[in-house]
Amino acid sequence: MADQYAQFSVGTEPPALPPLRWEEPPEGPVVVLLDQTRLPAAEVELVCTDVPALVGAIQTLAVRGAPLLGIAGAYGVALAAARGYDVEEAAESLASARPTAVNLAHGVRRAAAAHRAAVGRGAGRREAASAALAAARQLHREDAAASAAMAERGLALLDELVPGGGHRLLTHCNTGGLVSGGDGTAFAVALRAHRAGRLRRLWVDETRPLLQGARLTAYEAARHGLAYTLLTDSAAGSLFAAGEVDAVLVGADRIAADGSVANKVGSYPLAVLARYHHVPFVVVAPLTSVDLDTPDGASIEVEQRPGQEVTELTALPRIVTSGPGAVGGMAVAPLGTQAYNPAFDVTPPELVTAIVTESGVVSPVTATGIAELCASSRQV
Ligand code: MRU
Repeated sequence: MADQYAQFSVGTEPPALPPLRWEEPPEGPVVVLLDQTRLPAAEVELVCTDVPALVGAIQTLAVRGAPLLGIAGAYGVALAAARGYDVEEAAESLASARPTAVNLAHGVRRAAAAHRAAVGRGAGRREAASAALAAARQLHREDAAASAAMAERGLALLDELVPGGGHRLLTHCNTGGLVSGGDGTAFAVALRAHRAGRLRRLWVDETRPLLQGARLTAYEAARHGLAYTLLTDSAAGSLFAAGEVDAVLVGADRIAADGSVANKVGSYPLAVLARYHHVPFVVVAPLTSVDLDTPDGASIEVEQRPGQEVTELTALPRIVTSGPGAVGGMAVAPLGTQAYNPAFDVTPPELVTAIVTESGVVSPVTATGIAELCASSRQV
């Protein structure tokens, strides 16, 4: 069928600023974030000089997305150590800043363990702080490498599942370079397909209520020159019905031991739609998103966010105004309306066609498959 979406013109420059970097100006070390609440209108950096500022940035989603939350948590511990704060206390507040993405606690634990081990060896404050920073940097590098490996495995899987030509992929939320040390998770697969000349269309769910798809995935897709089209979340059903989706690609915030996948709210309905329409539903996530200590989907804590995100268009004022004080939004519901606003939902393993990680692909998705993958990657 002729591609009726070819009229979309998109840019060709990759995003200019990294989502997170560590800097050491004379006044002391800082974690510098690309403030994702201001995208795509403005590329503004947010400088965190202490842990409360970083915790605030995590909670307002200035820094977000599972892999990047892990990296941010690790650098947060390094920041606390370098500035002489109580590292264990800082680790606790960072790890609990948001509950669902297990990567956050993982990153925090890793840097805190490196710090503790250095202190245990008798290292002084500076040396122990360097150990925490080295752990954060190592995690950052590993995430970039994991991203590249997932992109390669993910595209190979797509070619297998949907043979014969250009892929039309549907994605939800934002899973690109804005959430990773590399090109991301699900988005990295689409980007790899684009670079290989095998992406026909990336369908981008707007992702209510905070519009990570419209604001962030469209931003990344445009700047990388992908053929993409934005849709409202509720338009996905008619797109499947029209036979326009070859596969769904999403990331994960936590994968339980039984293969249940917590991801941005709206992922589960996509999995149901995909199953009904015989379309593969593929999850792309690093092993740092797998949590063997969480036995099943019901055990995953799903973050509940303020109802105001639903009753007001809170994401929009930040885009259309330039001041940092643009917090409130335009009301779309009567005053006093109660809202149900879970940030994530849980897709059961039987609806997931495959989980793609840097170390291998699990398909079918079973507790045994997850356990074997984790065991084999520990041996490498
Ligand atoms: O609330 P967010 O924006 O942090 O949610 C992010 C997601 O749900 C992503 O899909 C997920 O972290 C997986 S890959 C980055």
